[in-house]
Amino acid sequence: KQSDLQIAIDGPAGAGKSTVAKLVAKGLDLFYVDTGAMYRAIAYKALSSGISINDEEKVSQIAQRTEVMLDHSDERLVWCDGQNVTQAIRNPEVSRAVATVAAYAKVRERLVELQRMEAARGGVVMDGRDIGTHVLPEADLKIFLTASADERARRRWIELQNSGRNVSFEEVFQDMQRRDRQDMEREVSPLKPARDAKILDTTGLKVEDIVTKILRLAQEG
Ligand code: CDP
Ligand code: CDP
Repeated sequence: KQSDLQIAIDGPAGAGKSTVAKLVAKGLDLFYVDTGAMYRAIAYKALSSGISINDEEKVSQIAQRTEVMLDHSDERLVWCDGQNVTQAIRNPEVSRAVATVAAYAKVRERLVELQRMEAARGGVVMDGRDIGTHVLPEADLKIFLTASADERARRRWIELQNSGRNVSFEEVFQDMQRRDRQDMEREVSPLKPARDAKILDTTGLKVEDIVTKILRLAQEG
């Protein structure tokens, strides 16, 4: 990669982080690292191994043992112990379980280590909840993306409809509210803007306009 620029993008669910982060990474020739996919992979593994996700010790053991790999091709496949879980980690069951798993200190410790290893390979755009506050505190640019709760749930609902999953808007809205609350209220690295983050409210904004804005901020340095 050409530069060692680090851009952190945090925010609640459905704010547009991954869509925007991918395009910013492409525009600046940086790696894109989806840290949410890593937490989802651990939640998926815990669910499919039949343990209770409320069992912190067992879930932490799973996090230690599981190999999570994000590929950097355009397909952005997610691998978990050699299994392609790219689709599976977007299941509603995983979405409902992931914030519980992500609240465990040992799970976070292990994944933050992986995330910093990714960043050590070269310039990155990394998205998540604690990138600006904890994972990359020295990032060159920190963005906190948000949008109204209604719009964020609508975006995710449309996405689920398009992938053939028949869920009601109300269900998506409630699940998302609950997950955001869990992410904001946990003790370890809760979701919040870093002190030096730029807060962008994207309600009613198009993806390309947000990307343009972030590219401009990155160039201003
Ligand atoms: O795409 P969406 O915003 O729905 O979620 P995600 O980015 O895939 O993240 C899924 C979950 O992983 C979040 O709700 C958090 O519980 C957890 N997460 C986290 O705790 N820290 C991160 N850096 C990224 C995700
Ligand atoms: O990663 P995060 O959960 O923050 O959001 P995302 O997965 O990037 O975006 C959720 C959905 O909203 C995607 O289908 C995007 O295409 C869509 N989106 C949108 O319609 N308008 C925006 N300004 C941003 C995202």
